[in-house]
Amino acid sequence: MDKNQKRVVLVTGATGGLGTAMCEALYKEGYRVLANYRSKDKADGWKMMMDSKNIKVDLFYGEVSDYASVESMVKEIEEKVGPVDVLVNNAGITRDTAFRKMSYEQWRDVLSSNLDSVFNCTRNVINGMIDRNFGRIINISSVNGQRGQFGQANYSAAKAGMHGFTKTLAMEVARKGVTVNTISPGYIGTDMVMAVKEEIRNQIVEQIPMGRLGGTEEVAHLVCFLASDQASFITGANYSINGGQHVY
Ligand code: CAA
Repeated sequence: MDKNQKRVVLVTGATGGLGTAMCEALYKEGYRVLANYRSKDKADGWKMMMDSKNIKVDLFYGEVSDYASVESMVKEIEEKVGPVDVLVNNAGITRDTAFRKMSYEQWRDVLSSNLDSVFNCTRNVINGMIDRNFGRIINISSVNGQRGQFGQANYSAAKAGMHGFTKTLAMEVARKGVTVNTISPGYIGTDMVMAVKEEIRNQIVEQIPMGRLGGTEEVAHLVCFLASDQASFITGANYSINGGQHVY
């Protein structure tokens, strides 16, 4: 690739805690950063905050749980910017509740936002990556997809499903210059984790050998590494980043 031509990275759910740190780190690494969002009000304020830090990102609307919405977002990106070289499937939600009380909507919302989204986004960029003989798919899963968590049957199922997807797609595109990997963060200091009741959260932190929540920038550095040329022989892998909470 021409050194002056920046690689294009699309981060889904960019305006959340992890997404923000990823956009910042990837921009500093020299990528052209495209930030997917679904709430315009939140995205506009977020963009101003990023501008104030001199982090240049372009916003693209797309409801990642909806195939047609993603299809038109990717079309718009290709027209305005060009093809996506690196896709970070980061968008995700929680609807925590004990399974015996879980509604069908709580199940569907989490499965469609956290797992259907991975199909929708990846399917719309993968053939371009194959044609250009370069691509990186980075799926942001969770320690709770690796080990389960009370109240998260929906979330754990979706997050475990992401890594099954990673393993198969990695095999299918391994000879095409495209790598596919999973990152499984533990409890990171994001709004999603801070929404867990303080008492429960404190109990969880006690189970983390490092005795603290992770930093969003710690996950972002791993994303940068997996996106880089140096990581070209890594595919189908699942990187734990959880302070020792789950070792196996
Ligand atoms: N283990 C065992 N039993 C538990 C339990 C636990 N962790 N938590 C609750 N229980 C018990 C309760 O004591 C109660 O028992 P009784 O029926 O005998 O009284 C029963 O289970 C049901 O409890 P609740 O009615 O309070 O259950 P609920 O449906 O309201 O759900 C919960 C509780 C909201 C899920 C709560 O347990 C919780 O917040 N858990 C933490 C979930 C969590 O870690 N989410 C992570 C969000 S961040 C994220 O997901 C990012 C990431 O990737 C890490």
